[in-house]
Amino acid sequence: MQLHISPSMRSLTISSSNEFFDSMKIKVAPPLISYRTLFHTILILAFLLPFVFILTALVTLEGVNKCSSIDCLGRRLGPRLLGRVDDSEQRLVRDFYKILNEVSTQDIPDGLKLPNSFRQLVSDMKNNHYDAKTFSLILRAMIEKFERDMRESKFAELMNKHFAASSIPKGIHCLSLRLTDEYSSNAHARRQLPSPERLPVLSDNAYHHFVLATDNILAASVVVSSAVQSSSKPEKIVFHVITDKKTYAGMHSWFALNSVAPAIVEVKSVHQFDWLTRENVPVLEAVESHHGIRNYYHGNHIAGANLSETTPRKFASKLQSRSPKYISLLNHLRIYLPELFPNLDKVVFLDDDIVIQRDLSPLWDIDLHGKVNGAVETCRGEDEWVMSKRLRNYFNFSHPLIAKHLDPEECAWAYGMNIFDLRTWRKTDIRETYHSWLKANLKSNLTMWKLGTLPPALIAFKGHVQAIDSSWHMLGLGYQSNTNIENVKKAAVIHYNGQSKPWLEIGFEHLRPFWTKYVNYSNDFIRNCHILE
Ligand SMILES: *[C@@H]1O[C@H](CO)[C@@H](O)[C@H](O)[C@H]1NC(C)=O
Ligand SMILES: *[C@@H]1O[C@H](CO)[C@@H](O)[C@H](O)[C@H]1NC(C)=O
Ligand SMILES: *[C@@H]1O[C@H](CO)[C@@H](O)[C@H](O)[C@H]1NC(C)=O
Ligand SMILES: *[C@@H]1O[C@H](CO)[C@@H](O)[C@H](O)[C@H]1NC(C)=O
Repeated sequence: MQLHISPSMRSLTISSSNEFFDSMKIKVAPPLISYRTLFHTILILAFLLPFVFILTALVTLEGVNKCSSIDCLGRRLGPRLLGRVDDSEQRLVRDFYKILNEVSTQDIPDGLKLPNSFRQLVSDMKNNHYDAKTFSLILRAMIEKFERDMRESKFAELMNKHFAASSIPKGIHCLSLRLTDEYSSNAHARRQLPSPERLPVLSDNAYHHFVLATDNILAASVVVSSAVQSSSKPEKIVFHVITDKKTYAGMHSWFALNSVAPAIVEVKSVHQFDWLTRENVPVLEAVESHHGIRNYYHGNHIAGANLSETTPRKFASKLQSRSPKYISLLNHLRIYLPELFPNLDKVVFLDDDIVIQRDLSPLWDIDLHGKVNGAVETCRGEDEWVMSKRLRNYFNFSHPLIAKHLDPEECAWAYGMNIFDLRTWRKTDIRETYHSWLKANLKSNLTMWKLGTLPPALIAFKGHVQAIDSSWHMLGLGYQSNTNIENVKKAAVIHYNGQSKPWLEIGFEHLRPFWTKYVNYSNDFIRNCHILE
């Protein structure tokens, strides 16, 4: 917890280092600042009251550093605020601290009428001749109410953001509908992809194969365009775009009408993979149909959440973990890559919320030292928040199975851009491990982990991960606005993981151009659907 009073003393910032969202600014009305009176001391101290309970409160005030108790604060603040003081005033201040201490532990009476503003408080005080104790009590009640209101509006904001993040924007929906329509009316949109003479390339290991699984056509177009435009050897690129049944026609139309030659694109729907059957993917069937789980992801998120016990940050991560996308087959697809592409040796698997800014062909030359999965680690790096993910951030270590098998301090790695050595993978039991842990988590009512597809992969790939340099893949552009722009420019791949996707209104404006750069605004479909206008 940190307290910062600005030099002008017009604002007071209370923030705590581990609760990112909890920081708040309280503006103190300027007219109250000018009097250097006892009243003012009261006001400031009363502000601090709710926070004094936290022993490590740290106060910074023009040269007043590292006060960690109210006594210290009082000693320092008193004379400073009062200007030159004599004994009687000092006694007054001392008495006042005594009152504050009493008030800070007292219950606030029910039905205490609280003024709505400080102006009203001041006028109430003049009219009713409050004694110092009543005054302090009212102040404290006001602050606590204010804090509650802040929290509630923060939660409301997070809920709104959650729904904004999980609904499909009008423009993207329009794009999908129009392209689907085009598929049935325009033979060119239905043309074979790739053209028949290039089909052998799809399983030729001399090419660089990328796999992208998504139902978002616009996002897919950005990933593919950015990869091709950033490549020094676009003629070596083969993209395998996998989508769901409902998006297939639209996705196919897009890539049939917007060639990225000399690169090659193949569009497939999950229903076209003979391998994806109930026998081979038993767990996913269970995941999608399990009633309790459907409720969990699609149900009422506020009900059952005790807002007085949670923090906005925990709540946000809870909401995110309940995003319906985590139960979709498209998301779990990556664990079946060796079976879906039986002839390929190496692929780079990409998420749809990334942009490629550099030639990725050197990825195929990275020595994976016999490992299966080349990934960036997420526990080291400049960005303290994004790069602080260890296993303990993903798993419930109170669960005996988790505690027995995993080390909470072990570094996690990221999905989004991974190089997979499928030949080595085929010799392992990664898929079986993944399945057995998914089942175990279902059986224990999702108490082992909540957040979708990464945790079971963190277990299944244990011992099979080779860390690659973090400049290959920069994370966090979708969950914080204070991303370092210089690093964004330098990264080979930037990843908008988090809620604030660049195609949503809640995306961060200053990070959006890195993505929109690859949206073709002169394309008729994009124009007619008014995408991000
Ligand atoms: C929420 O938690 C607080 C503090 O533990 C408790 O007093 C309150 O009864 C809880 N509310 C609900 C609805 O469970
Ligand atoms: C899971 O939840 C169901 C119903 O909510 C309950 O009957 C069952 O005992 C729970 N199982 C475990 C392992 O907690
Ligand atoms: C973590 O696991 C323990 C033991 O199974 C369980 O009691 C607890 O509810 C779990 N916590 C969460 C948040 O699921
Ligand atoms: C953008 O779309 C237009 C019209 O479809 C097309 O002529 C142009 O080549 C596209 N530009 C890029 C960079 O793909």
